[in-house]
Amino acid sequence: MARERVVITGGAGFIGSHLADELVAESDVRLVDSLAAGSPQNVAEAVRAGATLVRRDLLRGDLKPVFRRADIVYHFAANPDVRLGREGPKAHIEQNVLMTYRVLEACRANHVPRVVFASTSTVYGEARTVPTPEDYGPCEPISLYGASKLACESLLSAYAHTYGLQAIVFRMANVVGGRSGHGVVHDLVAKLVRNPKRLEIIGSDPGTSKSYIHIGDVLTGYRDGVEAATEPFTVYNLGSEDAISVRTIADTICRELSLAGVEYAWTGGSGSGRGWVGDVRTMSLAIDRLKATGWQPTMTSEQAVARAAHEAFERKTAGPSRKKVR
Ligand SMILES: NC(=O)c1ccc[n+]([C@@H]2O[C@H](COP(=O)([O-])OP(=O)(O)OC[C@H]3O[C@@H](n4cnc5c(N)ncnc54)[C@H](O)[C@@H]3O)[C@@H](O)[C@H]2O)c1
Repeated sequence: MARERVVITGGAGFIGSHLADELVAESDVRLVDSLAAGSPQNVAEAVRAGATLVRRDLLRGDLKPVFRRADIVYHFAANPDVRLGREGPKAHIEQNVLMTYRVLEACRANHVPRVVFASTSTVYGEARTVPTPEDYGPCEPISLYGASKLACESLLSAYAHTYGLQAIVFRMANVVGGRSGHGVVHDLVAKLVRNPKRLEIIGSDPGTSKSYIHIGDVLTGYRDGVEAATEPFTVYNLGSEDAISVRTIADTICRELSLAGVEYAWTGGSGSGRGWVGDVRTMSLAIDRLKATGWQPTMTSEQAVARAAHEAFERKTAGPSRKKVR
């Protein structure tokens, strides 16, 4: 059988590079990334194993050649930060909505049969039903990030029903793992490497309560969800089965890095328990739809954070945890 031709946008980033490692043995993998946030180191192994890395800004130029003859496109390239940066809404509208539209247009021109999209739990906003199922509505995002991802999902649905490509959407909880360059585990481990005695934590004690999933469980979720999808447009929640507070995350990281007596300095956040404007206070996903495919997360949120803390520490210090921070 011919090898599947896979294109991964944002392929040098955190999640995309792990998917490349997973698929490269069985598929022809092309990674497309501007390297704005991703790095060639993330994909060094995949490239050695046969993947190609194309340095390309997906907001510029003709994208048709990028997706030529692709059997499946995994679209990860985005602005993945929920927090608004200096650029305000523009960053999310351009890097999420416009970029997804450009990718879809290039896929349409190339008759790409399947597109898999990395969405987020933030599309639900402050849901009244928690754990939140995929058919919860109306989705009322409270961040520009969540709004832009929901707009992308709508585009995917419309392209699927209008042009016959199959679209598969994963609404992911917070994904953790050593290669991540953003998010609370990355942030807290980086701060502890700089100062193992005092830890600044965004928000107010005990912080928000959310679901965290390890990259290993995300990869199996993607595999099983894509394999099982038969409809033109399918949405899956992808998270762990519980939620933990920011305080529990800080305690877990300190415990795993063998740090005792760390002074926590809470910043106060944006009020009413949120870390920043647009931050939801509670997030937990109902994952029955993906579990019906046979998939099962192997870690709780705390176990995922514990493993990611070691991975992040080793990456940031180029040495095993427990030995360096004292
Ligand atoms: N990490 C999470 O917790 C999480 C949760 C839910 C959804 N997601 C989504 O998953 C996807 C991947 O997230 P991640 O955590 O791996 O982020 P990441 O920043 O590590 O990866 C994104 C990649 O996209 C690339 N990119 C950005 N703009 C580009 C452009 N104009 N052209 C080409 N490449 C560009 C970056 O260089 C980076 O390598 C994103 O769409 C994100 O919104 C992530």
